[in-house]
Amino acid sequence: MTEVADRIEETLAALLPRGDGPETRVFEAMAYASLDGGKRLRPFLTVQTARLFDVPDSRSLRAGAAIELVHCYSLVHDDLPAMDDDDLRRGRPSNHVAFDEATAILAGDALQTLAFEVLADPATHPDGEVRAGLVAALAAAAGARGMVGGQMFDIAAETDGAGFTLEQIVRLQRLKTGRLFDVSCQAGAILGGANEAERSALAAYTEDLGLAFQIADDILDETGNAAEVGKKVGKDASAGKATFISILGLDAARERANLLALQAVKVLECFGARADLLREAAHFAVGRRT
Ligand code: IPE
Ligand code: IPE
Ligand code: MG
Ligand code: MG
Ligand code: MG
Repeated sequence: MTEVADRIEETLAALLPRGDGPETRVFEAMAYASLDGGKRLRPFLTVQTARLFDVPDSRSLRAGAAIELVHCYSLVHDDLPAMDDDDLRRGRPSNHVAFDEATAILAGDALQTLAFEVLADPATHPDGEVRAGLVAALAAAAGARGMVGGQMFDIAAETDGAGFTLEQIVRLQRLKTGRLFDVSCQAGAILGGANEAERSALAAYTEDLGLAFQIADDILDETGNAAEVGKKVGKDASAGKATFISILGLDAARERANLLALQAVKVLECFGARADLLREAAHFAVGRRT
């Protein structure tokens, strides 16, 4: 993960806009939001999946960076006063605190459009159909039927949390977090020209991994400390938000996350030992402390 994270850092740094003039402030806010922080787990999945199909890293790093840009945009907007109103992110003041709300909104917008510019560039893949496939997959995962829909659902879980069932929380988390994990592996599969069986194995893997990852996020919110996690904790409970923990309790939530990781590992059989790092990533998703 460290190796891929370092190369993602370089890739992002090369892609971000630079220059001077009145618009420089948004360039700085984009760099602040996307460089020097985060686990880079989504691009790790893209690069590792692409390696299953012998795709050159030069391509998968660009696709992974595009997904990370969307993720970074989502964190900037998630922290805004109108949303979670969080002032700490990746161990630093949130974007709107370091800059201002208007700049943070614009930086998020521009990180998102940059992601699609990167995918549409022939440097990502020479075949236009492959590039269009990547663009369509990321748009679907990030949009109203994906992550944005999940964020809307999440706001409802805060205002009307008490009425939520476990099934509704599962659906919420699949959209909010799961879809971006899914497209992270699917991007590697699209670059590699994976067949239907391979794509559905990867989809099954990310479905479990994404859910396990979000349960771990909720557990860290409940039990972690801000210095280690790098963001404020205790937010979900104080907001009265419906989460796996509010519904299942801490122990059952932990157990479910572990079971999901074990399940995620199993569905990768068709890839043999080449998928070992993806298997380890599933355990990392639940065992992590940040
Ligand atoms: C945080 O994601 C937001 C969720 C979807 C839970 P990460 O835990 O991957 O955040 P970074 O990128 O490592 O900061
Ligand atoms: C944010 O979920 C998920 C997205 C940004 C799509 P959370 O609100 O739980 O994430 P954290 O805990 O602030 O990182
Ligand atoms: Mg949120
Ligand atoms: Mg948040
Ligand atoms: Mg959280």
